[in-house]
Amino acid sequence: MLRSVILAAARSQKVERLVETAPVSRDVVKRFVAGSGTGEALAATRQLADAGLCITLDNLGEDTLTAEQANATKEAYLELLAALGHAGLTAPKEGGGGVTVATAEVSLKLSALGQAFDEQLAEKNAREICEAAAGLGTTVTLDMEDHTTTDSTLDILSRLRRDHPGTGAVLQAYLRRTEGDCRELATAGSRVRLCKGAYKEPEHVAYQAPLEVDKSYVRCMNILMAGEGYPMLATHDPRLIAIAQDRARWFDRAPDEFEFQMLYGIRPEEQTRLARAGHTLRVYVPYGTEWYGYLMRRLAERPANLAFFGRALISK
Ligand code: FDA
Repeated sequence: MLRSVILAAARSQKVERLVETAPVSRDVVKRFVAGSGTGEALAATRQLADAGLCITLDNLGEDTLTAEQANATKEAYLELLAALGHAGLTAPKEGGGGVTVATAEVSLKLSALGQAFDEQLAEKNAREICEAAAGLGTTVTLDMEDHTTTDSTLDILSRLRRDHPGTGAVLQAYLRRTEGDCRELATAGSRVRLCKGAYKEPEHVAYQAPLEVDKSYVRCMNILMAGEGYPMLATHDPRLIAIAQDRARWFDRAPDEFEFQMLYGIRPEEQTRLARAGHTLRVYVPYGTEWYGYLMRRLAERPANLAFFGRALISK
């Protein structure tokens, strides 16, 4: 119920204006967002890389409505990639089980590149970013948004993969279709991020009960770990992390043949613990000024995050 209210607020411009202008917002945002520009994103990336972690960077923004905005987002990614390359953060690491595993890569939302009003423009923008990434030895992963965009995103992904086979997909365990998508994508060289899913989805397309979502996550993880691709297990859930480690043993996957992913600011001690234990741990680092939708999804996931917001409010 609370999750639904917050996710509904995530789509409300009135609430957005209220939250953006609240004096507490800056403190709360700082916990989950690495800064507003390329310089701050680079500094956070360097710090995480020095701690032995890998990184995927997201220039925040979604639901872009004009070609100018979409092009500006593309330019921001090109600037970021150039800066990462210049700082020596895009070189592929050794191993990787047959796929490129770079210290830092980027994550894209196709809606930020124009998908809602011009799919071809979004694809063209994404392709330019993939080309720049490939030129620097790194990769791109296409984030997954609400279910109305899944087919379009997977279609664009398959076309991008013809030229850039390392382009990563994201599949959401809460969607009823995802087991089938996992089977399709568990092929050699294919990078697939599996997450639970962060949007408010109707019952006919998505499991609603957390236990059902978790069970679907395990079924999907089994398919990916048994397959020939490179699974990227994006979760903070200790139970799912333990099951993943068990499946890696069961399916004989070396630590460099899959990775864990977590969000910036969430369970940072666990992030370094897993990296020290020999796993590849990639932190999803969002940065930019358009943090509202992202922050609201994080608040919806966990009441403790809301309490954090409340405490910041009271202490002002
Ligand atoms: P969940 O939120 O159910 O938490 C499970 C357990 O994890 C908790 O019970 C607790 O034990 C622990 N935990 C969680 N947060 C904690 C905290 N702050 N402190 C301590 N313990 C905590 N979604 C999407 O729809 N499209 C996408 O493209 C992506 N991309 C993406 C990339 C990466 C790298 C990640 C990690 C996640 C995404 N997501 C996403 C978001 C994802 O779908 C999901 O909403 C969140 O990861 C939260 O789900 P969890 O699996 O962490 O479980």
